[in-house]
Amino acid sequence: MTGKKAYISTLGTYLPKKILTNQDLEKLVDTSDEWILLRTGMKERHIADEGEYTSDMGAKAAKIALERAKLDPSDVDLIIVATLSPDYTFPSTACLIQAQIGAKNAAAFDIQAACTGMIYALSIGKSFILSGMYKNILIVASEKLSSITDYKDRNTCILFGDGAAACLIRGEGPGLEIGTISLGADGGQSGLLYLPGGGCRNPATTETVNERMHYLKMDGKEVFRHAVRRMELAAVSCINDAKLDPLDIAYLVPHQANTRIIDAIAKRCQIPQERVVNVVKHYGNTSASSIGLALEQISVEHKIKNKDNLLLVAFGAGLTWGSLILTVEGDFKNGTSS
Ligand SMILES: CC(C)(COP(=O)(O)OP(=O)(O)OC[C@H]1O[C@@H](n2cnc3c(N)ncnc32)[C@H](O)[C@@H]1OP(=O)(O)O)[C@@H](O)C(=O)NCCC(=O)NCCS
Repeated sequence: MTGKKAYISTLGTYLPKKILTNQDLEKLVDTSDEWILLRTGMKERHIADEGEYTSDMGAKAAKIALERAKLDPSDVDLIIVATLSPDYTFPSTACLIQAQIGAKNAAAFDIQAACTGMIYALSIGKSFILSGMYKNILIVASEKLSSITDYKDRNTCILFGDGAAACLIRGEGPGLEIGTISLGADGGQSGLLYLPGGGCRNPATTETVNERMHYLKMDGKEVFRHAVRRMELAAVSCINDAKLDPLDIAYLVPHQANTRIIDAIAKRCQIPQERVVNVVKHYGNTSASSIGLALEQISVEHKIKNKDNLLLVAFGAGLTWGSLILTVEGDFKNGTSS
């Protein structure tokens, strides 16, 4: 493995057209635009159409990543999809995306690390590249969180949005080199954020539907506390392992869960506000997709420069958390390396 590297060559993203604003939410639950903005930093989020699924959004993002790389779908070796809102329990959403984009030579599987999914998937993709097993790997994060959100629960329904992000990983630059990675989990806290119904513990019955068990449940305060602490530790461990200083980080690209969480991590990691990517206002929390959407944002704004270090950090149900450093080699604009 010595000397081998893995790079994100291109990105692709997709956001559904429909927008759910704070004012729309005021009509659904007892809340207000002021409360949501103050407590979360969110103004609006994108919501998929009824007939638009996680696989459709993921396929659209994946196609953009391939077009930007000028790579034929038949040259994709592996598709890894990170999602907690798959089309079905099985088959995997990765298989559905494989068929939609015509990647007929690709292996395909899903992973489940909730909002940390993109970082877990990137670490798996990197390992496959470094092992020499595959050359072109598509990582797709896609979520239709609106399908598991209870629009009668004001504690959760204000937070989530739909969308997808994809990236193509290869063994050669230019691109975003996938460097140091730090991953973690604490299954002892799984009850803080989970979907009780639909699995083998609580298969769908009239009772589970009546008790609204097919919607996600969350202890917001506890999740907030763990999110800040775990993301801080993961980020600091990554910075230290890479032998970097916080000042060496050009941009912190955190999971977009809540502006207050993002601000707290930045402060604890000593990363100045102007180096923090925050798109929570317009997208809400899109779980696994959020980091990819944030990366796309800074790449279309032409903010990323050669040799920049980008610190990705995420936290989610499980509990899971992770951090990863990307180092820019060459140019990376509009989701495309050159
Ligand atoms: C959900 C979250 C925004 C709530 O913010 P908070 O400051 O912790 O608010 P609290 O839960 O303490 O609630 C404060 C009050 O606001 C009320 N409230 C909750 N949601 C509300 C809403 N949408 N509108 C108005 N009031 C609301 C509560 O009922 C509570 O009222 P009470 O004091 O009378 O009991 C916050 O806890 C959070 O972001 N948690 C992490 C969520 C997350 O990131 N999840 C995904 C992880 S990947």
